[in-house]
Parts: sequence; C-alpha cells; structure tokens
Amino acid sequence: EKVILAYSGGLDTSCILKWLLQKNYDVICYIANIGQDEDFEQAKKKALDIGASKVVIEDVKESFVEEYVWPAVQGGLIYESRYLLGTSLARPCISVGLVKCARENHAKYISHGATGKGNDQVRFELSCYSLCPDIQIIAPWRLEEFTSKFQGRQDLMKYAAEHSIPVVATVKAPWSMDANLMHVSYESGILENPANEPPKDLFLMTKDPKDAPEKPTRLEIHFKEGLPTLVKAEKIIYTKPMEILTYLNKIGGEHGIGRIDIVENRFIGMKSRGVYETPGGYILHTAHKDIELFCLDKEVYRVKQNLAERLADYVYNGFWFSPEGSYVRKCIALAEQSVNGYVKLEVYKGNVTVLGRSSETSMYNEDLVSMDKHSNFSPSDATGFINIQALRLKEYQRVKTSSNIH
Ligand code: ARG
Ligand code: SIN
Repeated sequence: EKVILAYSGGLDTSCILKWLLQKNYDVICYIANIGQDEDFEQAKKKALDIGASKVVIEDVKESFVEEYVWPAVQGGLIYESRYLLGTSLARPCISVGLVKCARENHAKYISHGATGKGNDQVRFELSCYSLCPDIQIIAPWRLEEFTSKFQGRQDLMKYAAEHSIPVVATVKAPWSMDANLMHVSYESGILENPANEPPKDLFLMTKDPKDAPEKPTRLEIHFKEGLPTLVKAEKIIYTKPMEILTYLNKIGGEHGIGRIDIVENRFIGMKSRGVYETPGGYILHTAHKDIELFCLDKEVYRVKQNLAERLADYVYNGFWFSPEGSYVRKCIALAEQSVNGYVKLEVYKGNVTVLGRSSETSMYNEDLVSMDKHSNFSPSDATGFINIQALRLKEYQRVKTSSNIH
C-alpha cells in the first residue's frame, strides 16, 4: 500500500519513514517548500537513501502567501488577541499538496509526524479529510506500537543509528521550531517553563529591537479591498504578494518588529507557551487595522470584527476548509470592498508607527467633522441626543439612591 508522508528531513519524520517501510508500506515523501530555510535536495537524498520510493518537492510559497496569508491580513485575523496564526495558516496549504500528491500517486494513506498533544495533527487531518473524504491517516505519534518503542529523542537517535539513518551532527536547539514565509515559532524544551526567558540567540528572523538601527525606515502600504497591493519603501516599489511579504520581513526583521512571547490555548484543551516572530505580518496587520477603521462604516466594522474573531478560531482549530470558514471569508471580503487606499508608517526599534493614511472610499468626511465648519450638522440636535441618552442613567441613579444598592 502507498503512503504519502509529510517529510521534513528531520529526525522524527526520518524515523517514521523507516518505520513505515518496515511495516511494508511503499512510502512517497512529500516536502512542501513554504519558505522554511532548508536544503531540499539534501532532504530528498536522505529520504531516498532511507528507502522512499519517490520524493516530491513542491514550491507552495506563492499559494501560501496569496491564498492563506493575504486573506488573513484582509480579515485582520489574530488568535487570542496576539498570535497572527503563521503555523495555523500553513497547515491547510501543505494539506492541499499532500492530497494532490496522494491522488496523483493513487495512495490511500497520508502520514505525518505531528505530536499527539498538539494542534498540527488536528489541522492536517481535518484539512485532508475535508479535501479528500476517503483518505486514511497514519499518525504514528498516536499509535501504541510506535509510542511504546519511541519515548523521545534518545530512542529516535538510537533507532536512527541502528538503521543507518544519517543524523545531522549539529546539536539540536533545545526547543521545537516551525518556520515558513510568514513566521518562525518556538515551543517546548526549555520554553516549556513559561517563566523562562527566551534565549537571545533563539530568534532567526528578527534582530533584538535594542540592536536595531538608530534610524527609522518609512513605508507606504497600499490596499485594495483590504488586500495589500503595493509597498513603497526606500524609493523601491514592490507589488507581488511574495515580494511584499519578503521585503517587509527583511525590513521588519532589521528593526526588530513582531516578536511575541505568549501562553495560548491549544484546541486540544491545554495551554502552551509559544514564542513567535512575524515581522512582515505584524507590519501588514498594523497597516490594515488602520486603513480598515478609516474606511469602514462603524456598524459594519463591528460585525466584521466579530466574524474575524470567529474565523481566527476556525483557522487555529484546523477548520480552514469548512462551511463556516468559507462563509465567513466571503462575508469579510464583502465588507472589505471599501477598504482601499494607503497607510504611511515608520518602523523603528521594535515599533510600527502609523503616520497618516488616505483613501477614496473612506467614510471619513473632513467637512463634517471639522471644528471650523457647521456643514450639514446642527449642533443643537446634540442637546436632545444627550438628553435621551441620559434618561436611563438618571433613572439608574434614582433607583440606586432610593434603594440603597451600591
Ligand atoms: N502553537 C502554534 C500553533 O499552534 C505553533 C505550532 C508550531 N508547530 C510546530 N510543529 N512546531 O499554531
Ligand atoms: C502543535 O501544536 O502541534 C505543535 C506542538 C509542537 O511541536 O511544539
């Protein structure tokens, strides 16, 4: 039987590959290039050496940015007010590749190395089931026959040595990482104690804001229907989604933008501590938040915010491909039709500061709000407005006073 294994080139998935082969599966390794720093050819060679019948490397960077990161920026998606969902967005994108690979190779099974305590297993599997209802999943980290053999890293190393699986000589960082074009995340190991500070040398995408340049960099970010369309910076213009994100990661990284250290709620019911760096994503999120509130009608904005909070949960929990996910994405895109224009910003020592904005489709009316003109507004109307609003407050005070309730 054929299995498509989501392969990373690391110790875990290399041992899983060997283990599947020992169970007589025909294993095809699938590696998605989603912007992580990886020697893909070396990973391919390693998989073939171990015994994979085939290795498929697919560049999904463009799809990741355009079909997952951009809608997340458009919606202003943020999980539990802080996490920009870098890993959560990558999982459905990789799952599309896995399912396509399974179809093309007539494989009945997909396997992955995600832990049994985490979110990623849920995201991979819900996405795969949604895209291909007949697929079957092999999740070794949830199988007694696998977990009884492998308690942790020591057992994996021993197994690797026994089966001449090459192990990279470098000492592995004492935490787990997930990297893509949007972010790098760090969890577990020495970070498991939430009181431990992340070591200074942990971060790969961003400089410590304290070491960032003394001179700020100015940016101009343009949006059309809530999606970034152009970035102007240092006299250069970027227009392709990938170029925009790559540039903002570079400049944001230099200025120490977008680091967070949080404890979040996993879907599976436990809290976990995570450290993230999302330089470009954070700049886009900040710019979008500004232009959106500038453009949108007040009540539409409130409804949209509620939907965005829901969608962030759907994405985090693995329901990208779901009726509710697709419905809410469409609603948000509809609201965002009037989010057009540009935002001027400055990045400096870990901060993104908005300097100004402009739009042809904004609800902002300078004449109406101006302190120097009456325009269409009669100030005397405000007297009645306030009186009616005050009615309830006065009643509340009356009841409180007379009944001695505090
Ligand atoms: N906690 C984050 C999330 O659930 C990041 C997970 C990182 N995954 C990993 N395999 N290291 O989205
Ligand atoms: C997850 O939530 O699946 C990630 C756990 C980890 O590997 O750190």
